Amino acid sequence: MEILTAAIAPVDWSGDGLVLGVFGNGKEVITLTETLAHLDKSVLGGTLAELTAESEFKAETGSSVGGRVGSSSPIRKVLLVGLGDPSKATTDTWRKAGAQAVRWGNQQKCKTLAIACPLYNADKALTVQTLTEGILLASHQDKRFRSEPKNGKNGEPTVTKVELLELDDQSQAIATARTIVQGVILARELVSAPANIVTPGKLAQTAQEIANSNPLISAEILEKEDCAKLGMGAFLGVSQASALPPKFIHLTYRDGTGTAPQKKLALVGKGLTFDSGGLNLKTGAGSSIELMKIDMAGAAAVLGCAQVIGQLKPQGIEVHFIIAACENMISSTAMHPGDILTASNGKTIEVNNTDAEGRLTLADALVFADKLGVDAIVDLATLTGACIVALGDSIGGLWSTSDELAGELEKSAKLAGEKIWRMPLEEAYFEQMKSVVADMKNTGSRSGGAITGALFLQKFVENTKAWAHLDIAGPVWTDKESGYNNAGGTGYPVRTLVNLVLNFAQSA
Ligand code: BES
Ligand code: MN
Ligand code: ZN
Repeated sequence: MEILTAAIAPVDWSGDGLVLGVFGNGKEVITLTETLAHLDKSVLGGTLAELTAESEFKAETGSSVGGRVGSSSPIRKVLLVGLGDPSKATTDTWRKAGAQAVRWGNQQKCKTLAIACPLYNADKALTVQTLTEGILLASHQDKRFRSEPKNGKNGEPTVTKVELLELDDQSQAIATARTIVQGVILARELVSAPANIVTPGKLAQTAQEIANSNPLISAEILEKEDCAKLGMGAFLGVSQASALPPKFIHLTYRDGTGTAPQKKLALVGKGLTFDSGGLNLKTGAGSSIELMKIDMAGAAAVLGCAQVIGQLKPQGIEVHFIIAACENMISSTAMHPGDILTASNGKTIEVNNTDAEGRLTLADALVFADKLGVDAIVDLATLTGACIVALGDSIGGLWSTSDELAGELEKSAKLAGEKIWRMPLEEAYFEQMKSVVADMKNTGSRSGGAITGALFLQKFVENTKAWAHLDIAGPVWTDKESGYNNAGGTGYPVRTLVNLVLNFAQSA
């Protein structure tokens, strides 16, 4: 799809669908009023006035009103999109408006679309970038596993060109949006693909391809034997029932200047390509075993971010992307509940529940990251159902040993339109994981299950000053379309990670 800016005003545009974004004050439209009146009189034959009156359109967030314009007009259809209260506008206001515009354009069988928005006090480049992100994210259709289009040929998108009106050249912002969205789509498609397609080997291959196509990224893939040499008993314990070999993935981004980086960061993603629960098998309707292909969403986000960072090329920073990829299966070689595993830092773990496997794989991945001498480690994991109980399915949980890193993540997430909420590292709860026979158990009681998961991980970060854990079990998947997300993997939190890396680089 072609997306470009044009300096012309809505009155001078001709094409299939014109979308006008307007702010309101809860009672009426408060922006573009003169432009709208002029436009309505000169080219729309009063359509806007009729539409707003008939529908009592107040420009509230998410509201819209549209219709056919008289046949003498150079514009076939017009849509007003409500942007809500201008003082409450965020980057997501623009992403959602972009999504609304292109979804409408496709429904109305428009080929050419124009969008005009009042910029208000907003940053022009950021507005264009986020509008473009919304357009592209909403337009992404995953057709890989269908033999014919979802709604037949009629459901095929029609919009091929979008012009953002009354703007000077913003090709840089549009290019940035395209790069970011490609990373989000990579993550979405990795998450949406089933476990018979996205295997540990496929994750390793994807990582290798990212490195092959980017001179600033190098790849190191550790095989089972390499992991054994490093003493990764926790990771290998989880993978030992699977017919598929585990892969330990390590990508490194360097800025290419050859000078020592000022800041180093490690991003660690949970990479369970399928989580059956192991011998503590996921049974019953609530266990969602059929959804457990999504248990590599942390890994998917890490790879999506790596691809984007490799293209945006921030300076002064080194970033490590780490994934311990495997499957949690059952067979005669499976871990027994009660087995004791030794992680690569020497700590012993009594596996009182084989379904708390993510933290076992992450234990060795975190120890690996902790040895790299980075300034900060952030891990991303679909770790617990308890986090979904606590925060619902659109908010990720955040735990951190550093207020500064937590603040950076909150800032990055806000800009990304991805919600996170800080949770406590309540040390006393670790009592639940004391073991009679080993250094610790891998599971506590049901209460505070997301917190004990975080506390377990914390034991494997001993040298790195700043560590943060994001429990992303809820927001990585959606059953139904909403805003710029389509049903399936959402690509959460690729944009947050990208912002974090870019901010880290700027503060370097
Ligand atoms: N992968 C699951 C968590 C999960 C649940 C992700 C739902 C996405 C949606 C994780 O490995 C798991 O099974 N966690 C257990 C932990 C428990 C055994 C301590 C859980 O949440 O029940
Ligand atoms: Mn599990
Ligand atoms: Zn899991």
